[in-house]
Amino acid sequence: MPDADKFAVLIGEEALRRRVIELGSQISKDYQNTPLTLIALLNGSIFFLTDLIRALDIRDLHIECWRISSYCDTYSTGKVTGLEHCRAEVHQRHVLIVDDIYDTGLTLSHVQEHVRTLQPLSIKTCVLLEKKTKHQVLIPVEYVGFTIPDEFVVGYGLDYNGRYRELPDIRIFRSN
Ligand code: XMP
Repeated sequence: MPDADKFAVLIGEEALRRRVIELGSQISKDYQNTPLTLIALLNGSIFFLTDLIRALDIRDLHIECWRISSYCDTYSTGKVTGLEHCRAEVHQRHVLIVDDIYDTGLTLSHVQEHVRTLQPLSIKTCVLLEKKTKHQVLIPVEYVGFTIPDEFVVGYGLDYNGRYRELPDIRIFRSN
């Protein structure tokens, strides 16, 4: 794990595992007998998504993955690219948006707005992490794994310019 060794671990593997199972059982309770389409935002949510799906017990579950991006280095550009091509058949279905972080909130607010145009029965949002101090827009987020300090984090799917996604835990990344 070359230079990643020097990054401090913020959330360890076991804590991630336990919390994702808790979120999974909460979501399963809330949607057990209703048609649910889970829309995951890639790439950052890949680890979270696959662990969360395996923690779900829902009869009528569809999974869609949308690839969008808004980050460059450690800064949100505020512009979401890729959303214009994102589609899902959500007629008579509930939607749960799954993302890695609610940071400024710009990405999720655009995504929620886009999902609304598809007219599902309802829309809720689930994130693994929330950085409360950075919100630029306040949006409804019903399921939050962990609230974290205002630090750039990598690992468990999260990257710095494409690197460190493979780390099994969440670490604080400082470029200097
Ligand atoms: P916003 O600011 O729109 O950000 O809420 C949403 C997306 O930005 C990425 N992001 C991060 N990625 N470490 C990362 O690897 C971070 O600390 C971080 N903060 C935001 C992420 O993809 C998220 O979906």
